[in-house]
Amino acid sequence: MKLFEVYQLWDIEPVKGSDTTLWDKDGEVYTDLYGGHAVISVGHCHPHYVKKLSEQLSNLGFYSNAVQNHLQKDLAARLGRICGYDDYALFLCNSGAEANENALKVASFHTGKPKVLAFRKAFHGRTSGAVAATDNPKIQAPFNETANIVFVPLNDLEAVDNELAKGGFAAVIIEGIQGVAGIYEPTGDFLNGLRTLCDKYGCLLILDEIQSGYGRTGKFFAHQHHGVRADIITMAKGMANGFPIGGVLISPAIKPVHGMLGTTFGGNHLACTAALAVLDIIENENLIENAAKIGEFFEQAFKDDKAVKEYRGKGLMIGLELKEEYVGLRNKLLFEKHFFTGAAGAGVIRLLPSLTISQETAESFVKAWKELTV
Ligand SMILES: Cc1ncc(COP(=O)(O)O)c(C=O)c1O
Repeated sequence: MKLFEVYQLWDIEPVKGSDTTLWDKDGEVYTDLYGGHAVISVGHCHPHYVKKLSEQLSNLGFYSNAVQNHLQKDLAARLGRICGYDDYALFLCNSGAEANENALKVASFHTGKPKVLAFRKAFHGRTSGAVAATDNPKIQAPFNETANIVFVPLNDLEAVDNELAKGGFAAVIIEGIQGVAGIYEPTGDFLNGLRTLCDKYGCLLILDEIQSGYGRTGKFFAHQHHGVRADIITMAKGMANGFPIGGVLISPAIKPVHGMLGTTFGGNHLACTAALAVLDIIENENLIENAAKIGEFFEQAFKDDKAVKEYRGKGLMIGLELKEEYVGLRNKLLFEKHFFTGAAGAGVIRLLPSLTISQETAESFVKAWKELTV
């Protein structure tokens, strides 16, 4: 049997990792500034993470959500404390799309309303509800088409007001920082204005922090730079450093009903152990502070760079929009200098490195970049 080929792949196969270093099957060494789409938050194969997962695997790998699992409660308690939403409740699932899917359902169950307001260029995942709220018709099948989702431009509060005034909205869903779009931030005024409008029209504010959360921007969640509180927050990527997991934080105003949500794999023993190990490392190694510090270094290094048209983002969620003559730079960084980076279209390089990235590694990337752009 062959694979169902939906991905465009580099002809490189990493077989070993350590922090921000990768080795391919031929022994070539690479530096990872992308973390496999912002997933690697505490570095590849961190010893504490490996130890905790190995110990758990040798005790119990999985049992379903029909029995007690103290690891879920430990994770909820730890996460609540570190992220500043201690009074919220946690629902565990397996991916970012699934987290958004559940968030949209919870909002609709709670309000009894069917519609959702989303933003132009948004990406929320590929399951039915999440992809319908994603502004990319190319990844929506006819099956996903629905009149229940309305898109308006990011940072246009008047457009939001006009739509919500029509009624029937369960939620507004917005990324903490738009990632796949190419790193675009909602302004603080806009987010706070959304909060006010959601309250005015009786709908819930869902913050999709799947890419921008987990300390990446220098705060636990990107929206916390603006002092706004959401009703529901979704997370996934950095949460378990590559072990599949997703989480939905739900306001205490929303009451659970048995059977309302559910999953076979969500919150399993290995996933919770991986997520707890990630929180240990984030706290013990002050990684949120490191994300802010190295982010500041990158901003200073790149904001006036000759190849960069615009520097966007916060902390270690960075978009480098290239001037037209430098559009091939990502390939050169990979093949000539052995740095993994991400992209958003041809013209934007995305940096989403592990929060453990050292000053030395950051400097080596800047040096390689400058050598390629002299
Ligand atoms: C903001 C955001 N939401 C949702 C998703 C979907 O997550 P997953 O691929 O884990 O389903 C992504 C993935 O890139 C994302 O960036």
